[in-house]
Amino acid sequence: MDKRPIGVFDSGLGGLTAVRELEEILPGESVVYFGDTGRVPYGTRSREAVRRYARQDMAFLIAHDVKAVLAACGTVSSTSADIGAQLPVPYFDVVAPTARAAARATRNGKVGVTGTNASIHSGAYVQALKTADPAVQVYPMACPLFVPLVESGFVSPEDPVTLLVAERYLASLREAGVDVLILGCTHYPLLSLAISRVMGPGVTLIDSGKEAALALGEALREKDLLCPPGIPRQAQYYVTDAPENFSAAAKLFLGHPVEGTRVDIEKY
Ligand code: DGL
Repeated sequence: MDKRPIGVFDSGLGGLTAVRELEEILPGESVVYFGDTGRVPYGTRSREAVRRYARQDMAFLIAHDVKAVLAACGTVSSTSADIGAQLPVPYFDVVAPTARAAARATRNGKVGVTGTNASIHSGAYVQALKTADPAVQVYPMACPLFVPLVESGFVSPEDPVTLLVAERYLASLREAGVDVLILGCTHYPLLSLAISRVMGPGVTLIDSGKEAALALGEALREKDLLCPPGIPRQAQYYVTDAPENFSAAAKLFLGHPVEGTRVDIEKY
């Protein structure tokens, strides 16, 4: 057993969808969360920039003595898995568990993948889906406006702006007949209701933050790395921009308020 916290990071707030899941499935586990709110979004940047940021974010978590690192960011997961694999603690990301869940869920073999520009252009989800099931037909779609919509609170399934953007991105996937849609960016689950409305009730949405958290929980259990009973849970949240803004927006993701602490990531 290992009482050290789990380290979770994202370019900003999206990774909190994985933390929310961890709170539910592993309520005894402490968490150190790092959200790079000063440099979000990652998804529109070059691969080199994302990899440099990912290296710093992981170094920050390792310096906080975590027992495992979860990249709860589709963009980092798609571009920087080799960096994570070199860490001195087990590394997890969203791509493989999400692809496995989608391959299991599809009935007609047609899977749509949404994500940031960087995630979709990396081809990582397509490759992971083909590994999970070579027969699956994959329909990728970059949805760059989804992140600013979520960060601006435009998450209601009644919001005409959100519905218009979702329709523009997703109509071709609906017409292709996908029966499973991967939400390959950890921000997107907040748009689930709007996305479902556009895709229709027959399409199963796969939440990448949730699938990653489930896979992490299983692995910690298997490796006997869960926290021993009786140790009070702690959660620390670190950000790189105004903590007040983070605290207000985090409530939308977690359903409860948290306090963020500002750090200088350039030191890592
Ligand atoms: N949470 C990030 C991801 O999952 C999206 C936000 C960004 O572009 O940085 O890719």
